[in-house]
Amino acid sequence: MDLDAAVRAADALAAARRVSALTGAGVSAESGVPTFRGPGGLWEGRRPEELASPVAFAADPELVWRFYDWRRTRLAGARPNAAHRALARLEQLVPSFELVTQNVDGLHAEAGSRRVVELHGNIWRVRCPRGCVDEIDRTAPLPPPLPPRCPRCRGPLRPGVVWFGEALPPGAFEAARRAAESAEVFLVVGTSGVVEPAASLARLAAGRGALVVEINPDVTALTDVAAISLRAGAGEALSAIVDRVEEARR
Ligand code: APR
Repeated sequence: MDLDAAVRAADALAAARRVSALTGAGVSAESGVPTFRGPGGLWEGRRPEELASPVAFAADPELVWRFYDWRRTRLAGARPNAAHRALARLEQLVPSFELVTQNVDGLHAEAGSRRVVELHGNIWRVRCPRGCVDEIDRTAPLPPPLPPRCPRCRGPLRPGVVWFGEALPPGAFEAARRAAESAEVFLVVGTSGVVEPAASLARLAAGRGALVVEINPDVTALTDVAAISLRAGAGEALSAIVDRVEEARR
């Protein structure tokens, strides 16, 4: 890891009053959770629209549910990793910290992050497409038959995640935009930066004069807006950076 770049990122974070972060699947990769794109990714050999879209759900709700239940089963054993824990520590170290995540696994909250905007929903929640019931938490694989039925209208319940072509949860993008607009330092961690409107947050932050710091082993679509780009894993880089911020704020 480029230690000089990590030191510059840590020193900027230590001096900042308002910090925001945008995270993606790469933050959970070290918890054993598959990413979407790249080798072994969930979309490898699949078209996401075939499994993560309203059209797919209308065509075959059971297939879509089996996919999400398989993902939930894989997630059931996942625990927060050093990256999640470092971001939760950072929230305690800076005066104002906002975490915007594209992840639906709930691991940021489990690691102790409190101010989390889940842009793409949460895989542990289910809801009725007809709005009969509010979101209900289903943290265990659902009993057969799939899909589970709405207790009121008996129609198929759906995962509480945002699918391709759908609107984000009410208020989520507004909160995320405020976080990007107000940030002095904007962290971009573990995302390929190809899905909108999440990716636009980094450009918005940069346009408002924030120092954008990217942490990713690979170059991404957002590397061009990063003033500091660390080619490293999130756990290693964030742990080292937050250790230095903690030292500086003592
Ligand atoms: N540390 C940091 N980054 C990592 C690590 C790691 N240990 N391992 C992988 N990465 C990076 C990859 O290099 C890649 O750039 O994480 C990124 C994951 O990219 P994607 O798989 O595209 O995931 P993400 O950017 O979160 O996707 C955005 O797309 O399918 C939709 O709704 C889904 O929220 C998801 C959205």
